[in-house]
Amino acid sequence: MPWILDTDPGVDDAAAVIGALRLPLDLLGITVVHGNVPLEMTLTNTLRLKQLLGSDIPVYAGAAQALLQPPCHAPEIHGADGLGDITWPPLTVAAEQQHAVAFIVEAAKTYAGSLNLLAVGPLTNIALALAMEPSLVDAVERVVIMGGTHSAHGNTSMVGEFNFYADPEAAAMVLRAGWHVEVVPWETTLASLVPLDVLPEVGANPVSDTFRRLSAHLARRMKRMRGVEGLLMCDFAALAVALDPSVGVDTVKLYGVVETAGQHGRGLLALDYARRFGGAPNLTMYRTLEQESLQQLFRRAFADE
Ligand code: BDR
Ligand code: CA
Repeated sequence: MPWILDTDPGVDDAAAVIGALRLPLDLLGITVVHGNVPLEMTLTNTLRLKQLLGSDIPVYAGAAQALLQPPCHAPEIHGADGLGDITWPPLTVAAEQQHAVAFIVEAAKTYAGSLNLLAVGPLTNIALALAMEPSLVDAVERVVIMGGTHSAHGNTSMVGEFNFYADPEAAAMVLRAGWHVEVVPWETTLASLVPLDVLPEVGANPVSDTFRRLSAHLARRMKRMRGVEGLLMCDFAALAVALDPSVGVDTVKLYGVVETAGQHGRGLLALDYARRFGGAPNLTMYRTLEQESLQQLFRRAFADE
């Protein structure tokens, strides 16, 4: 089952990248998008992780801007550089020449019917790929998205989750494309914090040590902002669902659209729970995850090899 991981590292993206490379997900490549920090930095961060893991997986730079939304980043959560502002060795690896969107379109032709997408950043690259090649919808088997909300509890506006809020038009395009997507929303991931003692338990190795340092800023921030102890690993939760859908213990198929207008509603994932106002379900919503399985995957991703 070949996968493309589309990401905007980001601390929790880093956990998803590490997990995708080590668990592993059968990855064709990693495509990078603007998001938690600007594209130049999300690309640097992805390459830092590739180098840390000694991986030869190709990395492709994608969209530097949302379709219409002005720049929207989250340095207060992830650090000014997006990865907790630790020091890294100089980069010795580089991105591919091909654009991320061209790579997704090409992969859809090569792996028609069996390609899978795991998207854990703003959905600009995926929307652009759909615009370039609408038949992407038929080429793809599973689309797993970290984004949106199941009950409109936003983290970037009152009702907007970051990935949908940072490019509402792209999220709207992806949801109405005619495929069935799997959504791991904000509230579900907030209820799935990885306890702080999980990382020390896996033992010391270069990957777990680096991750412990780069995630310290996020852990402190979570404590200050929300009074909770634990690592907020939204994108790792989406990886877990990609690897093993049975991690989802409470799922529901729904019709959903992304709101692009309104004073407060931009980026809202509107869901037809009443099954009266929308069409046939276009998404599976993961409302609860099985915590022990999730933590087990997290341990495995960071354990000594
Ligand atoms: C999402 O926004 C980003 O800050 C995280 O990386 C995650 O993808 C959570 O709302
Ligand atoms: Ca992300």
